[in-house]
Amino acid sequence: MEKNTIAFKRHRRLRSSSSIRSLVRENHLRVEDFIYPMFVIEGENIKNEVTSMPGVYQFSMDLLLDEVTEVYNLGIRSIMFFGVVTAKDEIGTGAFIDDGIVQVATRMVKEAFPDLLIVADTCLCEYTSHGHCGVIHDHDVDNDESLELLAKTAVSQAKAGADIIAPSNMMDGFVAYIRAALDEAGYTNIPIMSYAVKYASSFYGPFRDAADSTPQFGDRKTYQMDPANRLEALREAESDIEEGADFIMVKPALSFLDIVRDVRNLVDVPVVAYNVSGEYAMVKAAAQNGWIDEKQLVIEMLTSMKRAGADIILTYFAKDVAKWLKEN
Ligand code: PBG
Repeated sequence: MEKNTIAFKRHRRLRSSSSIRSLVRENHLRVEDFIYPMFVIEGENIKNEVTSMPGVYQFSMDLLLDEVTEVYNLGIRSIMFFGVVTAKDEIGTGAFIDDGIVQVATRMVKEAFPDLLIVADTCLCEYTSHGHCGVIHDHDVDNDESLELLAKTAVSQAKAGADIIAPSNMMDGFVAYIRAALDEAGYTNIPIMSYAVKYASSFYGPFRDAADSTPQFGDRKTYQMDPANRLEALREAESDIEEGADFIMVKPALSFLDIVRDVRNLVDVPVVAYNVSGEYAMVKAAAQNGWIDEKQLVIEMLTSMKRAGADIILTYFAKDVAKWLKEN
């Protein structure tokens, strides 16, 4: 048979040079896509590298502005703070006091960089003695009582200057409660970025070292979702939209890209993917062993999140990617 009578498609035409590949590329990373999570620790002159997260540090307040300046100069315009504190109690008071570590950091950074968006993670687990995300009654987290404290936390964060409230505690009704509390306090224009779809995941391990928030008993499975479930994610996203969420987050990202796509197809608000600590740690460990090309792998991973439908990515790689984007 004559070769040219056999019909087939030549997909390789659009891959034949770097220029044509750029021309037809469907998804892109931009520095504007990123939110960079940072850890603030009590004390002075501290810059502790998190052992399981090479390149991620806990900064004391006096060193924080220098780091934020570097982040800002790389073009990153959104950051998130997590507080690392020693004084903890049953109800997580440190989360909602006006001079809490995140509130102080927020005020300081906002004053220096008014156009840097500060996204506040609204949760209690870094501040409770038991390490759970709400108040404990009968060995489980009490949903409705926790809501009051979470609403207080959100208002104190807004008062400190946070631009976006991001509740990550997975109590039912947190969006409705926080929205009402923000409105009542006059913060009608502060959006809520809901960690609507948050799984009870082993990928959070390194974060719990970094933020000292490991539960002292049990696990988070009565409030965070079962990784086996997909339809439940749609219910979670839907109810948070009804309650007034302005963004919907899916967390973790890497092994939940199908969920990112499902949520993208369901909602019409911006979708955020959280590229969590364990995803970061795996890449760093493999890179340190020389087993993978870190830069190429990170770009592939994060681009896949955009392809799956994420508009925004929370990632510890934000600084690295911002540098790589500048080089190109
Ligand atoms: C607080 C919170 C957690 C993370 C973000 N906010 C920990 C958890 O739920 O246990 C994890 C982030 C990461 O692993 O990078 N609830």
